[in-house]
Amino acid sequence: MTGADPGGASHGTGAAGTGVGQVVAEDELAGAPDPAVDPAGWALAAERAVEAVASAEELRSLDPLLLGKRSQLTAARQRLGGLAPEERKAAGGELNRVRQQVEAAVERRRGELVAAERRARVEAERLDLTEPLAAARARSLGATSAACGAGVAVWRQGLVHLVQRTRDQLEDVFVGMGFTVADGPEVETDWYNFEALNMPPAHPARGMFDTFYLDVEPAESVVLRTHTSPVQIRVLQSGRLPVYAVMPGRCFRRETADARHFPVFHQVEGLVVDEGITFGDLAGTIETFTAAYFGPGISARLRPAFFPFTEPSAEFEITCTICHGAGCRTCSGTGWVELGGCGMVDPAVLQAVGVDPERYSGFAFGFGIDRCAQMRYGIPDMRAMFDNDVRVLRQA
Ligand code: PHE
Repeated sequence: MTGADPGGASHGTGAAGTGVGQVVAEDELAGAPDPAVDPAGWALAAERAVEAVASAEELRSLDPLLLGKRSQLTAARQRLGGLAPEERKAAGGELNRVRQQVEAAVERRRGELVAAERRARVEAERLDLTEPLAAARARSLGATSAACGAGVAVWRQGLVHLVQRTRDQLEDVFVGMGFTVADGPEVETDWYNFEALNMPPAHPARGMFDTFYLDVEPAESVVLRTHTSPVQIRVLQSGRLPVYAVMPGRCFRRETADARHFPVFHQVEGLVVDEGITFGDLAGTIETFTAAYFGPGISARLRPAFFPFTEPSAEFEITCTICHGAGCRTCSGTGWVELGGCGMVDPAVLQAVGVDPERYSGFAFGFGIDRCAQMRYGIPDMRAMFDNDVRVLRQA
């Protein structure tokens, strides 16, 4: 074995443990001096052989040749018996020393090889979960696949829906004006949605608010809320005055979808209740909000209207942002788009929740968030907002 020939059968056969490294190692060993004669020279050659192996497997094959029963070292030890006792002791000690030295070299090399093999395995098994984002992003923005490089998976950045973004922006505007933000349930009892808002059963104003009813007893007692106004009641019931709050949320009405209507929509309610609040405060608040949110060139106007829970009441409209007042399909040719309703909180509503109308007065308003988004982003048809055409959703 120690006479392995580099060009011989063991070379290049691909058998485990007989790689190039091992052949070189066995060569080193074949040329080594007899350890009985030159132990230090043998140890040096043995260490070179250890360095030459290229894998832990090769090292395992080399090990018996270096230190095993049929190794030169063992043969040298067996010949010690023929020496005089003094000589035997010195030579034996020397053979032990070089054995330990080579054993240590084998261990060190084994550690290196095992670590390198583990590193290589981890590297080979690694899953690359990353993507070249710059190219993928370019593609998601419409570049051709050639420009992005073939084989790049399409990557699209998610974004906040226009309606949610509008809601966030509206909250920001109102928080900037000193309002807090409150919340309420989407499923309401008849009492919160209608009665507490001064709309007893069979009140004709309920006709404006046809909705969806939950299948619970008694019939028609639980509804999907038709507006955010019931949150006014909940805020007032909490008993903390004064109130300066906005209440955004989802609402429902039995409505046929068209350019300006959808059966599911979003409103933001505003409620101010304090001492000495006047209609002037309401008008000023609407005006300030319109300028802050829509910017110059868009104004608001109030028109007399009726809501059972406010007195006096008004509808508020803003300049149509699609035609800038000239008249178009979206504004039915009027140049104005209705955004919502408002008015001074009816004393009966304050009374119903135990607030003294002699001491406190207030105003309320409620308007469509979807309508705001439609006007802000110039979307002629409301339905486009829910068609999920990314060209619509991706703007702004
Ligand atoms: N809740 C009314 C609607 O949905 C709007 C409104 C809110 C009117 C507050 C007056 C005061 O039409």
